[in-house]
Amino acid sequence: MTEIIDGESVAADVRDAVADEVSRLSDAGVGPGLATVLMSDDAASETYVSMKQRDCEEVGIESFHVEIDAGAPASELYETIDDLNGRDDVHGILVQLPLPDHVDKRTVLRRIAPEKDVDGFHPENVGRLVAGDARFKPCTPHGVQKLLDAYDVETEGADAVVVGRSDIVGKPMANLLIQKSPTGNATTTVCHSRTEDLEAKLAGADIVVAAAGIPEFVDGSTLKSGATVIDVGINRVDADTEKGYELVGDVDYESAKDVAGAITPVPGGVGPMTRAMLLYNTVKAAGLQRD
Ligand code: GUN
Repeated sequence: MTEIIDGESVAADVRDAVADEVSRLSDAGVGPGLATVLMSDDAASETYVSMKQRDCEEVGIESFHVEIDAGAPASELYETIDDLNGRDDVHGILVQLPLPDHVDKRTVLRRIAPEKDVDGFHPENVGRLVAGDARFKPCTPHGVQKLLDAYDVETEGADAVVVGRSDIVGKPMANLLIQKSPTGNATTTVCHSRTEDLEAKLAGADIVVAAAGIPEFVDGSTLKSGATVIDVGINRVDADTEKGYELVGDVDYESAKDVAGAITPVPGGVGPMTRAMLLYNTVKAAGLQRD
């Protein structure tokens, strides 16, 4: 029987632990605070940011939100970040991506104080992760790591394939999987749009992390029987529903669910974990800034 990996349930456990830590910090006079910054008209980005604010409220983290007109000059975003960097009540800063074309993402991410960079995207934090000395692990790969751990998926000695090489998911995911740690030690292959014979790579994979951003890209027929399949994709595709779309992953769930040993659904798999790990990083940031 294929095990359905329940991200909602594991995320609820993470949120409970975070809420306890928020109480402890608040009793000590440090109420953790997260600032979200949205510079986009994208409906999905707006939804993600409002969900993050709601999550904060649920665990007792103070949330602050800044919206910047998508057509405003980049300097307005820089000034906002400088202001948030200097505030004692803001321990974490998240600038929602993607940004408008006229704003250089790298410049923006470097501007966030590394100790408030709860996304883990600042080069200092990327470097620390690669060096095995992570301050903030990026939320999605960290959430995947937690899911694998919660379901006792053995990574040591496993052959893992990460499909996708993004800075947000693919690269940090591969780094976590290869690290010398109880949740690492996997032999990891990173596949991408220029990979030749993806099928051959997938055929040998005990663990597949699909993060290509392409709807239903990985078909069940290409998977090794019994593989653990983690679907990071959240793609809106046109559908005859009330909203006019439905969410599908990067894995074709119907064909994969009977081949895999364990699989994450979309929605309800990785998505809730990403959100929970942001709360975790925010509380960690507050603790570090107190010390
Ligand atoms: N856009 C999509 N995923 C993310 C994320 O993890 N962090 C930020 N800041 N923006 C995103």
